[in-house]
Amino acid sequence: MGFAQARPVFATSVNDTMVKETIAQAITPDPEGLVDVVPPELQFGQELYLENCATCHVGLPPAVLPTEIWRTILTDPNHYGVQITPFSEPSIYVVWNYISLYSRPLRDNEPPPYRLRSSRYFRVLHPKVEFGDRVTLQSCIGCHPGAEQFNYRSLTAEWEDAP
Ligand code: HEC
Ligand code: HEC
Repeated sequence: MGFAQARPVFATSVNDTMVKETIAQAITPDPEGLVDVVPPELQFGQELYLENCATCHVGLPPAVLPTEIWRTILTDPNHYGVQITPFSEPSIYVVWNYISLYSRPLRDNEPPPYRLRSSRYFRVLHPKVEFGDRVTLQSCIGCHPGAEQFNYRSLTAEWEDAP
């Protein structure tokens, strides 16, 4: 999805202008304004998130899972049966500022959902869609043609016109 090559994040030689350039290349708003543009202070966190988490599969918007689950997923090398390089200090803080603002906490006593199919928030975002038990990361693009560009607002014509 055209992310600029990672720059050394915390090197002192990286100034605001360079960071802004990187972000401008990485998250260019689409012409129709369908992709949420995050406030400038969170954009770098979003970029780091996507660089690391939108590689093997589509990037998931933070809103689809509760905040507590993200905390685990972002820092755990054991990842749904594969090994990943999780975030560590200090980049985790930058990513966390973004993820925690765009996700919501679990309710008291709510069982933690590690899968989208069991996430209440994922279902709340889909009032018109009946998912059943199977929600896969490959399926998003079938209804969200821009999923690989992190655009979950545009829908296929069939869903765009759904009552
Ligand atoms: C090395 C490849 C790889 C990387 C990198 C990766 N993932 Fe995954 N991810 C997977 C695989 C494989 C699965 C399991 C898919 C399945 O079971 O259908 C998965 C599943 C998931 C799921 C569960 C989806 C569901 O409901 O079934 C979430 C959430 C997730 N990844 C988030 C992330 C986040 C956040 C990151 C960045 C920290 C990340 N992934 C980085 C390969 C990766
Ligand atoms: C069967 C079609 C379908 C599939 C598959 C699907 N979605 Fe959706 N999605 C929709 C529709 C339709 C909406 C608009 C809300 C509604 O009408 O239910 C939506 C809305 C959303 C929104 C809210 C967008 C906004 O307005 O900000 C997000 C986020 C989202 N989907 C993420 C995902 C992810 C991630 C996946 C894959 C794991 C996925 N969706 C799979 C149809 C789908």
